[in-house]
Amino acid sequence: MCGIVGAILSEGSVVQGLVDGLRVLEYRGYDSSGVAVAADDGVLVRKKEGRLANLEAALADGALEGARAGIGHTRWATHGPPSDRNAHPHLGRHGTLAVVHNGIIENYLALKEELTGSGVVFQSETDTEVLAHLIERELATADDLSSAVRRCLARVEGYYALAVLSRGPAGPEVVCARQGPPLAVASTADAAYLASDLLGLLPYTNRISFLEDGDIAVLTPGRVQVIDLQGRLVERLPKTIHWESGDSGLGHWPHHMLKEIHEQGDVLARTAFSRIAKGADDVEFEGGAFSDEFFAEIERVQVTACGTALHAGMIASYLIEGLARIPVDVDFASEFRYRDPLVGPGTLALAISQSGETADTLAATRLARSKGAKVAAICNVEGSSQVRESDGVILTQAGPEIGVASTKAFTAQVAAALLLAVRMGRARGTLDSERARELLQELRLLRPKIDSLLTEEAVGRVRRLARLHVEQNGFLFLGRGVNFPIALEGALKLKEISYMHAEGYAAGEMKHGPIALIDPGMTIVVINSVGHVADKVRANIEQVKARGGVTVSVGSDAASHEVAEDSIPVPETSEWLSPLLNVIPLQLLSYYVADLRGCDIDKPRNLAKSVTVE
Ligand code: AGP
Repeated sequence: MCGIVGAILSEGSVVQGLVDGLRVLEYRGYDSSGVAVAADDGVLVRKKEGRLANLEAALADGALEGARAGIGHTRWATHGPPSDRNAHPHLGRHGTLAVVHNGIIENYLALKEELTGSGVVFQSETDTEVLAHLIERELATADDLSSAVRRCLARVEGYYALAVLSRGPAGPEVVCARQGPPLAVASTADAAYLASDLLGLLPYTNRISFLEDGDIAVLTPGRVQVIDLQGRLVERLPKTIHWESGDSGLGHWPHHMLKEIHEQGDVLARTAFSRIAKGADDVEFEGGAFSDEFFAEIERVQVTACGTALHAGMIASYLIEGLARIPVDVDFASEFRYRDPLVGPGTLALAISQSGETADTLAATRLARSKGAKVAAICNVEGSSQVRESDGVILTQAGPEIGVASTKAFTAQVAAALLLAVRMGRARGTLDSERARELLQELRLLRPKIDSLLTEEAVGRVRRLARLHVEQNGFLFLGRGVNFPIALEGALKLKEISYMHAEGYAAGEMKHGPIALIDPGMTIVVINSVGHVADKVRANIEQVKARGGVTVSVGSDAASHEVAEDSIPVPETSEWLSPLLNVIPLQLLSYYVADLRGCDIDKPRNLAKSVTVE
């Protein structure tokens, strides 16, 4: 998704800070970038298709140095292909105003027709450019830039996170506005900043305010003033963010994804261990959230999420239904939001999201709330929309996840779901003290088991498999029960970073169709842990082998490793916890296959880290 940065300083040059901010936001996925600064005689713009390096080359002449106010953008194309002319920022006619935007202006064609009719000649194929011309036109009669922006937005349908820079007679002005995609703002003694997400602001401060829908922020050095669309002042108190800007650094690692895979032992400890209650037979969340009373009226749970978070949600459904003995439904947020679902006051709507800004998941949450459901979230970003709009929140402690392919956030989500399931089971009396104690003890013992899967020898075993299978036509991942979602997750990881065809399937479903796919060019990865379905899954491996299939078994069921052609052993643990271990070799497998294929692992083609539009 697009990345937006902006700043106004009391003195000094803003342009390098804009580029540095865009580099921090690169992980969001983009295909072009640009900056605009307010110079003495107007607004100067540089923008280029492709990677940030292209923009930096265009800035090398230093022509934009010295300006103290500016905005920047990394574009993830929606209207108009990636190109220099479609890159943001977009200028008005007089060259004194520039706009950058994330979102979609749904009525841009009508606005474009009106503006063209009044003599505007458009320079790009984007929807965003209409904003630049509309605001510029309003600025001719408005008191100030924020008034002009308000008037423009009153005519706009759709959703946006936008920043506007103008260079008027009174000097530079920077204004931003939000309706949908996120925007964060912050001020220091002699500057004010804006960014699409908090990572763009952490280099300056960890006291950050998050705009709400309908907010407009006016940035002046040392101050951010927030107003609503009617021009009334609103208060957006800053939150203290407990991340360090260095947390998102690459360090000595070749890719963020590999670093984040190796952080999972720490992430599990940070997310789970401090929430195990003193008696070790229950869970205690911050602020007493998820108390016995919280669950008193809950009769069912509805999980909504997207992508990897949905796979964590599927595991959550097995854990909650199994331990708290309450019905749980899981749905793609993009399906849930359009099917007029049967949810109401007795429903706990549980959203799972790393970013907390995924448009479909937010929409599903808002729909569930409108139908009377109680809303909870498992989320990684404090201050995100998902967190702010929930009645109960479990913050995962994964730290910034930069790799587009989610890994440590996923395992943190599963750990958080286990905690919630234990808490709900204890609250409802379906999980006794002894079983809870055993499970939580097993959870504590997971960390060395995770680390054992990340040793040089264990990783080397996966790398060998990657080399053996990198030329295959495709992969089929099979799993049952709580490991069926791990089959889906293993397939998604491989798809999204190596671009190979891969499919996850319920192992019991294989003979109802996918078994026709078996041939030497198809690798069948079967996830099987010691547990109540191990013998069934082992039989599935036999069925594949009997038809000449290439099989790899992953898990703690040693007998499966005897049957399969190749294997990745995983330490034994409670069946409920086995997904937290089984997923790690699959994350590594996708990483090394993608590496062998020379793919852009941290920024896979067409993908964005947080899908803030539909
Ligand atoms: C996962 O590897 C993908 N990047 C994607 O499926 C992601 O999980 C999905 O877009 C949901 O994002 P969220 O967790 O931020 O809501």
